[in-house]
Amino acid sequence: MAGDPRVQEVLERALAEVAGARSTSDLEQVRVRMLGRAGQLTTLLRSLGAIPAAERPKVGEETNRAKAEVEAAIAARLEGLKAEEHRRTLAADRPDLTLPGRRPPPGPVHPLTRVTEEIIEVFEGLGFSVAEGPEVESDYYNFAALNFPADHPARDMQDTFHLSADTLLRTHTSPVQIRTMKAQRPPVRIICLGKVYRRDILDATHSPMFHQVEGLAVDKHITMADLKATLQLFAREMFGPASSVRFRPSFFPFTEPSAEFDVRCFKCGGEGACRFCKSSGWLEIGGSGMVHPNVLRNVGYDPEEVTGWAFGMGIDRITLLKYEIDDIRLLFDNDLRFLQQFGGLPGR
Ligand code: PHE
Repeated sequence: MAGDPRVQEVLERALAEVAGARSTSDLEQVRVRMLGRAGQLTTLLRSLGAIPAAERPKVGEETNRAKAEVEAAIAARLEGLKAEEHRRTLAADRPDLTLPGRRPPPGPVHPLTRVTEEIIEVFEGLGFSVAEGPEVESDYYNFAALNFPADHPARDMQDTFHLSADTLLRTHTSPVQIRTMKAQRPPVRIICLGKVYRRDILDATHSPMFHQVEGLAVDKHITMADLKATLQLFAREMFGPASSVRFRPSFFPFTEPSAEFDVRCFKCGGEGACRFCKSSGWLEIGGSGMVHPNVLRNVGYDPEEVTGWAFGMGIDRITLLKYEIDDIRLLFDNDLRFLQQFGGLPGR
Protein backbone atom coordinates (compact mmCIF):
# COMPACT_ATOMS: atom_id res chain seq x y z
CA MET A 1 0.00 0.00 0.00
CA ALA A 2 1.63 3.16 -1.23
CA GLY A 3 1.86 5.80 1.43
CA ASP A 4 0.47 9.25 1.14
CA PRO A 5 3.05 11.30 -0.81
CA ARG A 6 2.85 14.28 1.58
CA VAL A 7 3.53 12.10 4.59
CA GLN A 8 6.28 10.26 2.72
CA GLU A 9 7.95 13.49 1.77
CA VAL A 10 7.94 14.97 5.26
CA LEU A 11 9.09 11.65 6.73
CA GLU A 12 12.03 11.35 4.37
CA ARG A 13 13.08 14.90 4.92
CA ALA A 14 12.84 14.46 8.68
CA LEU A 15 14.91 11.27 8.66
CA ALA A 16 17.54 12.90 6.44
CA GLU A 17 17.76 15.88 8.74
CA VAL A 18 18.05 13.66 11.81
CA ALA A 19 20.86 11.73 10.14
CA GLY A 20 22.55 15.01 9.19
CA ALA A 21 22.43 16.55 12.68
CA ARG A 22 26.03 17.13 13.80
CA SER A 23 25.36 17.97 17.42
CA THR A 24 22.70 17.59 20.10
CA SER A 25 21.69 21.21 19.61
CA ASP A 26 21.41 20.60 15.84
CA LEU A 27 19.22 17.65 16.61
CA GLU A 28 17.04 19.67 18.97
CA GLN A 29 16.41 22.16 16.16
CA VAL A 30 15.38 19.30 13.85
CA ARG A 31 13.00 18.03 16.54
CA VAL A 32 11.37 21.45 16.87
CA ARG A 33 11.14 21.82 13.09
CA MET A 34 9.44 18.46 12.69
CA LEU A 35 7.61 17.67 15.91
CA GLY A 36 7.32 21.03 17.64
CA ARG A 37 4.07 22.91 17.97
CA ALA A 38 4.50 24.47 14.52
CA GLY A 39 6.52 21.51 13.21
CA GLN A 40 5.95 19.96 9.83
CA LEU A 41 4.55 16.64 11.05
CA THR A 42 2.38 18.40 13.61
CA THR A 43 0.99 20.71 10.97
CA LEU A 44 0.34 17.74 8.73
CA LEU A 45 -1.67 16.02 11.46
CA ARG A 46 -3.61 19.18 12.07
CA SER A 47 -4.43 19.58 8.39
CA LEU A 48 -6.15 16.18 8.24
CA GLY A 49 -9.50 17.94 8.46
CA ALA A 50 -8.95 19.34 4.98
CA ILE A 51 -8.62 15.97 3.22
CA PRO A 52 -11.55 13.88 2.08
CA ALA A 53 -13.18 11.95 4.92
CA ALA A 54 -12.49 8.58 3.29
CA GLU A 55 -8.73 9.14 3.23
CA ARG A 56 -8.52 10.64 6.68
CA PRO A 57 -8.06 7.48 8.81
CA LYS A 58 -5.36 6.13 6.51
CA VAL A 59 -3.40 9.38 6.23
CA GLY A 60 -3.89 9.99 9.93
CA GLU A 61 -2.46 6.61 10.79
CA GLU A 62 0.47 7.07 8.39
CA THR A 63 1.23 10.46 9.86
CA ASN A 64 1.19 9.08 13.39
CA ARG A 65 3.47 6.22 12.33
CA ALA A 66 5.81 8.70 10.63
CA LYS A 67 5.82 10.78 13.80
CA ALA A 68 6.73 7.74 15.90
CA GLU A 69 9.45 6.82 13.43
CA VAL A 70 10.94 10.30 13.54
CA GLU A 71 10.77 10.31 17.36
CA ALA A 72 12.59 6.98 17.47
CA ALA A 73 15.21 8.21 14.98
CA ILE A 74 15.76 11.36 17.06
CA ALA A 75 16.12 9.32 20.27
CA ALA A 76 18.64 6.97 18.67
CA ARG A 77 20.63 9.81 17.11
CA LEU A 78 20.59 11.68 20.42
CA GLU A 79 22.23 8.73 22.17
CA GLY A 80 24.92 8.58 19.51
CA LEU A 81 25.59 12.31 19.56
CA LYS A 82 25.70 12.45 23.36
CA ALA A 83 28.22 9.63 23.52
CA GLU A 84 30.29 11.31 20.84
CA GLU A 85 30.19 14.68 22.63
CA HIS A 86 31.13 13.00 25.91
CA ARG A 87 34.10 11.37 24.24
CA ARG A 88 35.15 14.67 22.76
CA THR A 89 34.96 16.48 26.13
CA LEU A 90 36.97 13.75 27.79
CA ALA A 91 39.59 13.90 25.08
CA ALA A 92 39.82 17.69 25.36
CA ASP A 93 40.00 17.62 29.20
CA ARG A 94 42.40 14.74 29.37
CA PRO A 95 44.65 15.39 32.37
CA ASP A 96 48.33 15.64 31.63
CA LEU A 97 49.73 13.00 33.93
CA THR A 98 53.27 14.13 33.22
CA LEU A 99 52.69 17.55 34.88
CA PRO A 100 54.40 17.88 38.27
CA GLY A 101 51.94 17.91 41.20
CA ARG A 102 51.03 21.05 43.11
CA ARG A 103 52.69 20.84 46.51
CA PRO A 104 50.81 22.59 49.35
CA PRO A 105 53.15 25.22 50.81
CA PRO A 106 54.65 23.83 54.05
CA GLY A 107 53.49 25.77 57.12
CA PRO A 108 56.36 27.34 59.03
CA VAL A 109 56.78 26.31 62.67
CA HIS A 110 55.50 29.05 64.97
CA PRO A 111 58.44 30.68 66.81
CA LEU A 112 56.87 29.80 70.17
CA THR A 113 56.53 26.17 69.16
CA ARG A 114 60.07 26.22 67.94
CA VAL A 115 61.44 27.55 71.22
CA THR A 116 59.17 25.18 73.19
CA GLU A 117 60.59 22.23 71.31
CA GLU A 118 64.15 23.45 71.80
CA ILE A 119 63.58 23.76 75.55
CA ILE A 120 62.13 20.26 75.70
CA GLU A 121 65.11 18.92 73.79
CA VAL A 122 67.61 20.49 76.20
CA PHE A 123 65.87 19.20 79.32
CA GLU A 124 65.07 15.78 77.96
CA GLY A 125 68.77 15.50 77.26
CA LEU A 126 69.33 16.09 80.98
CA GLY A 127 66.89 13.35 81.98
CA PHE A 128 63.84 15.52 82.66
CA SER A 129 60.41 14.41 81.51
CA VAL A 130 57.55 16.63 80.42
CA ALA A 131 54.62 16.98 82.85
CA GLU A 132 51.28 18.61 82.23
CA GLY A 133 48.52 20.15 84.29
CA PRO A 134 45.18 21.91 83.81
CA GLU A 135 44.90 25.61 82.95
CA VAL A 136 41.78 25.90 85.09
CA GLU A 137 43.12 25.35 88.58
CA SER A 138 41.93 25.41 92.14
CA ASP A 139 43.19 27.94 94.64
CA TYR A 140 44.79 25.03 96.45
CA TYR A 141 47.18 23.99 93.66
CA ASN A 142 47.87 27.49 92.35
CA PHE A 143 48.42 29.11 95.75
CA ALA A 144 47.72 27.29 99.04
CA ALA A 145 49.85 24.19 98.45
CA LEU A 146 52.62 26.48 97.18
CA ASN A 147 52.81 28.10 100.59
CA PHE A 148 50.87 31.25 99.75
CA PRO A 149 49.04 31.94 103.05
CA ALA A 150 45.34 32.84 102.72
CA ASP A 151 44.89 36.60 102.23
CA HIS A 152 48.64 37.01 102.12
CA PRO A 153 49.73 39.97 100.00
CA ALA A 154 52.03 37.61 98.08
CA ARG A 155 48.96 36.54 96.13
CA ASP A 156 48.79 40.05 94.70
CA MET A 157 52.10 39.46 92.95
CA GLN A 158 50.02 37.68 90.36
CA ASP A 159 46.79 39.34 89.28
CA THR A 160 44.45 36.44 89.02
CA PHE A 161 41.51 35.68 86.74
CA HIS A 162 39.06 34.05 89.15
CA LEU A 163 36.34 31.79 87.78
CA SER A 164 34.77 31.31 91.22
CA ALA A 165 35.90 31.76 94.81
CA ASP A 166 37.95 28.61 94.53
CA THR A 167 38.74 28.19 90.80
CA LEU A 168 40.97 30.32 88.66
CA LEU A 169 43.06 30.36 85.51
CA ARG A 170 46.50 29.28 86.65
CA THR A 171 48.79 32.28 87.07
CA HIS A 172 51.94 30.17 86.72
CA THR A 173 52.99 26.61 85.93
CA SER A 174 54.05 26.00 89.56
CA PRO A 175 50.82 24.12 90.43
CA VAL A 176 52.18 21.33 88.23
CA GLN A 177 54.99 20.94 90.80
CA ILE A 178 52.36 20.03 93.39
CA ARG A 179 50.42 17.73 91.07
CA THR A 180 53.58 15.90 90.04
CA MET A 181 55.00 15.47 93.54
CA LYS A 182 51.64 14.28 94.88
CA ALA A 183 51.54 11.66 92.14
CA GLN A 184 55.05 10.27 92.48
CA ARG A 185 57.81 9.64 94.98
CA PRO A 186 61.25 11.24 94.64
CA PRO A 187 63.43 11.43 92.65
CA VAL A 188 61.49 13.90 90.51
CA ARG A 189 62.84 15.60 87.40
CA ILE A 190 60.20 17.34 85.33
CA ILE A 191 59.60 20.36 83.21
CA CYS A 192 56.12 21.65 82.49
CA LEU A 193 55.41 23.97 79.58
CA GLY A 194 52.10 25.68 79.05
CA LYS A 195 49.80 28.66 79.07
CA VAL A 196 49.35 30.85 82.11
CA TYR A 197 47.03 33.80 82.67
CA ARG A 198 47.28 37.12 84.47
CA ARG A 199 45.14 40.21 84.48
CA ASP A 200 47.44 42.32 82.35
CA ILE A 201 46.47 44.77 79.64
CA LEU A 202 47.71 43.64 76.23
CA ASP A 203 50.55 45.82 75.00
CA ALA A 204 53.95 45.35 73.36
CA THR A 205 55.40 43.62 76.42
CA HIS A 206 52.35 42.21 78.28
CA SER A 207 49.74 39.67 77.36
CA PRO A 208 46.99 38.33 79.65
CA MET A 209 47.91 34.88 78.36
CA PHE A 210 51.51 33.83 78.00
CA HIS A 211 53.64 30.72 78.28
CA GLN A 212 55.91 29.46 81.02
CA VAL A 213 58.25 26.58 81.47
CA GLU A 214 58.60 25.22 84.97
CA GLY A 215 61.48 23.02 86.07
CA LEU A 216 61.53 20.87 89.19
CA ALA A 217 64.17 18.51 90.56
CA VAL A 218 63.74 16.76 93.91
CA ASP A 219 66.06 14.11 95.25
CA LYS A 220 68.49 13.44 98.07
CA HIS A 221 71.31 16.02 98.22
CA ILE A 222 69.96 18.43 95.61
CA THR A 223 71.59 21.84 96.02
CA MET A 224 71.36 25.35 94.65
CA ALA A 225 74.62 24.67 92.80
CA ASP A 226 72.75 22.01 90.77
CA LEU A 227 70.14 24.63 89.95
CA LYS A 228 72.69 27.15 88.75
CA ALA A 229 74.58 24.58 86.72
CA THR A 230 71.35 23.46 85.06
CA LEU A 231 70.29 27.01 84.20
CA GLN A 232 73.80 27.75 82.95
CA LEU A 233 73.70 24.77 80.64
CA PHE A 234 70.25 25.75 79.44
CA ALA A 235 71.39 29.33 78.72
CA ARG A 236 74.32 28.07 76.63
CA GLU A 237 72.10 25.80 74.60
CA MET A 238 69.51 28.51 74.09
CA PHE A 239 71.59 31.64 73.67
CA GLY A 240 75.01 30.38 72.62
CA PRO A 241 78.18 28.98 74.24
CA ALA A 242 79.32 32.38 75.56
CA SER A 243 76.17 32.69 77.64
CA SER A 244 76.19 32.71 81.42
CA VAL A 245 73.74 33.11 84.27
CA ARG A 246 73.63 35.21 87.40
CA PHE A 247 71.35 35.03 90.43
CA ARG A 248 69.73 37.99 92.18
CA PRO A 249 68.14 37.43 95.61
CA SER A 250 64.37 37.45 95.41
CA PHE A 251 61.26 36.16 97.09
CA PHE A 252 58.71 33.50 96.19
CA PRO A 253 56.52 31.87 98.87
CA PHE A 254 57.31 28.40 97.51
CA THR A 255 61.09 28.65 97.41
CA GLU A 256 63.67 29.44 100.08
CA PRO A 257 66.13 30.81 99.29
CA SER A 258 64.78 32.38 96.10
CA ALA A 259 66.63 33.97 93.24
CA GLU A 260 65.75 35.63 90.00
CA PHE A 261 68.12 34.71 87.25
CA ASP A 262 69.48 36.71 84.36
CA VAL A 263 71.34 35.64 81.25
CA ARG A 264 74.29 37.65 79.98
CA CYS A 265 73.11 39.78 77.07
CA PHE A 266 74.02 37.91 73.90
CA LYS A 267 73.83 41.12 71.88
CA CYS A 268 76.53 43.10 73.66
CA GLY A 269 78.17 40.16 75.46
CA GLY A 270 77.53 41.94 78.75
CA GLU A 271 79.35 45.11 77.65
CA GLY A 272 76.32 47.32 78.20
CA ALA A 273 75.60 50.40 76.01
CA CYS A 274 73.05 48.22 74.28
CA ARG A 275 69.35 48.87 73.78
CA PHE A 276 68.65 45.14 73.96
CA CYS A 277 69.57 44.77 77.66
CA LYS A 278 68.86 48.43 78.43
CA SER A 279 72.61 48.79 78.92
CA SER A 280 72.64 46.49 81.94
CA GLY A 281 74.51 43.71 80.16
CA TRP A 282 71.95 41.19 81.49
CA LEU A 283 68.56 39.91 80.38
CA GLU A 284 66.00 38.99 83.05
CA ILE A 285 64.76 35.50 82.33
CA GLY A 286 62.96 33.95 85.31
CA GLY A 287 62.55 33.03 88.96
CA SER A 288 63.97 30.09 90.85
CA GLY A 289 64.97 28.76 94.24
CA MET A 290 65.12 25.80 96.58
CA VAL A 291 61.72 24.20 97.10
CA HIS A 292 60.33 25.48 100.42
CA PRO A 293 60.15 22.79 103.16
CA ASN A 294 56.45 23.61 103.60
CA VAL A 295 55.82 22.74 99.96
CA LEU A 296 57.62 19.43 100.36
CA ARG A 297 55.54 18.72 103.47
CA ASN A 298 52.32 19.67 101.64
CA VAL A 299 52.94 16.91 99.10
CA GLY A 300 53.94 14.33 101.72
CA TYR A 301 57.71 14.52 101.18
CA ASP A 302 60.10 14.69 104.11
CA PRO A 303 62.23 17.86 103.89
CA GLU A 304 64.79 16.17 106.16
CA GLU A 305 65.23 13.46 103.57
CA VAL A 306 64.97 15.23 100.21
CA THR A 307 65.62 18.69 98.86
CA GLY A 308 64.78 20.23 95.53
CA TRP A 309 65.01 23.24 93.30
CA ALA A 310 62.52 24.82 90.93
CA PHE A 311 62.58 27.50 88.30
CA GLY A 312 60.00 29.21 86.11
CA MET A 313 60.52 31.35 83.05
CA GLY A 314 58.54 32.92 80.23
CA ILE A 315 58.74 31.11 76.92
CA ASP A 316 57.35 34.16 75.12
CA ARG A 317 60.05 36.36 76.59
CA ILE A 318 62.79 33.94 75.53
CA THR A 319 61.26 33.81 72.05
CA LEU A 320 61.12 37.60 71.75
CA LEU A 321 64.75 37.89 72.86
CA LYS A 322 66.06 35.07 70.73
CA TYR A 323 64.45 36.28 67.52
CA GLU A 324 64.70 39.98 68.41
CA ILE A 325 60.96 40.50 68.12
CA ASP A 326 59.91 43.76 69.75
CA ASP A 327 56.18 43.17 70.26
CA ILE A 328 54.64 40.18 72.04
CA ARG A 329 51.38 40.69 70.13
CA LEU A 330 53.12 39.50 66.97
CA LEU A 331 53.24 36.04 68.55
CA PHE A 332 49.46 35.88 68.77
CA ASP A 333 48.23 37.81 65.72
CA ASN A 334 48.72 34.92 63.27
CA ASP A 335 49.87 37.34 60.59
CA LEU A 336 51.39 35.19 57.85
CA ARG A 337 53.80 37.95 56.87
CA PHE A 338 55.33 37.53 60.32
CA LEU A 339 55.02 33.77 60.66
CA GLN A 340 56.47 32.99 57.25
CA GLN A 341 59.82 34.34 58.37
CA PHE A 342 60.24 31.24 60.49
CA GLY A 343 61.22 28.11 58.65
CA GLY A 344 60.81 24.55 59.89
CA LEU A 345 62.92 23.01 62.60
CA PRO A 346 66.04 21.23 61.42
CA GLY A 347 64.92 17.78 60.35
CA ARG A 348 61.34 18.84 59.65
N1 PHE B 1 56.05 30.66 89.50
C1 PHE B 1 56.91 31.80 89.55
C2 PHE B 1 56.29 32.93 88.73
O1 PHE B 1 55.51 32.68 87.86
C3 PHE B 1 58.28 31.50 88.97
C4 PHE B 1 59.02 30.49 89.79
C5 PHE B 1 58.92 29.16 89.52
C6 PHE B 1 59.84 30.94 90.85
C7 PHE B 1 59.62 28.24 90.26
C8 PHE B 1 60.53 30.04 91.58
C9 PHE B 1 60.44 28.69 91.30
O2 PHE B 1 56.56 34.09 88.97
